[in-house]
Amino acid sequence: MAQIIDGKKMSAKILEQVSVDVDEFKERYGITPGLAVVLVGEDPASQVYVRNKVRRATEVGIRSFEHRLAANVSQEKLDSIVDELNRNPEVHGILVQLPLPANLDEDKIVDAIDPKKDVDGFHSLNVAALATGKPGLVPCTPQGGMTMLQETLGDLTGKHAVVIGRSNIVGKPMAALLLQANCTVTMVHSRTRDIAMLCRQADIVIAAVGSPKLVTAEWIKPGATVIDVGINAISVEGARKLVGDVDFATVEAVAGAITPVPGGVGPMTIANLMQNTLKAARLQQP
Ligand code: GUN
Repeated sequence: MAQIIDGKKMSAKILEQVSVDVDEFKERYGITPGLAVVLVGEDPASQVYVRNKVRRATEVGIRSFEHRLAANVSQEKLDSIVDELNRNPEVHGILVQLPLPANLDEDKIVDAIDPKKDVDGFHSLNVAALATGKPGLVPCTPQGGMTMLQETLGDLTGKHAVVIGRSNIVGKPMAALLLQANCTVTMVHSRTRDIAMLCRQADIVIAAVGSPKLVTAEWIKPGATVIDVGINAISVEGARKLVGDVDFATVEAVAGAITPVPGGVGPMTIANLMQNTLKAARLQQP
């Protein structure tokens, strides 16, 4: 049976360290790191994520600023809120929870955030920095996945990693980080021919598509490490249940190590967001 990679435990360790580092930062600069979280609309999953982010921030000593806006908020209004947060010296990190309602231009909003406050790492300048191996703010979920891999496997040099899914939030930055860690990277997606055959060659499989239990045991090379980024709400006999993109029950029997859902990548994302907020606050000190 596979080793279970415990995201709860790993993230708790990171958060403990962030908490210590935040105290040190406060002592040194006499200011409190601040994180602004903008939520537009009533998406239930987004509401849960935002609540958890704000709660964790408070726990590690980061001050949070919450902006909840109606789904029909105008682009101009949202732009002006971001602009205000950019100029607010008490705010060091800005996060606009995605997805945004269809009437809003997601790319425009993300690129309106000051890149130094872009704790999600979604701004074009941070995307470019990651792609070219320069310092910048790195997206939280892929960074969390990398920490899990490195804690489990050590040096990743030469390993073949298959990334399933090509999103800007996870798939693409994950591939960039794996490449930086000297992996051989294959990206597969909905138009790929014979995904199963490609996955079976992987030492590392990253599943980030948002398709419940897509990855089954037949896709996995015995002993491979599986990182499940999916969080899908499904109904089992009338009850709501969270499952990943990986069919945990069958894959667990084949893989060498696997992340559970919930309690895997999810908590790591939030821990990395806190790290990024502190990093952003440091970047903004003279
Ligand atoms: N929606 C899903 N994942 C994320 C994330 O990491 N950041 C933001 N802002 N929105 C998301």
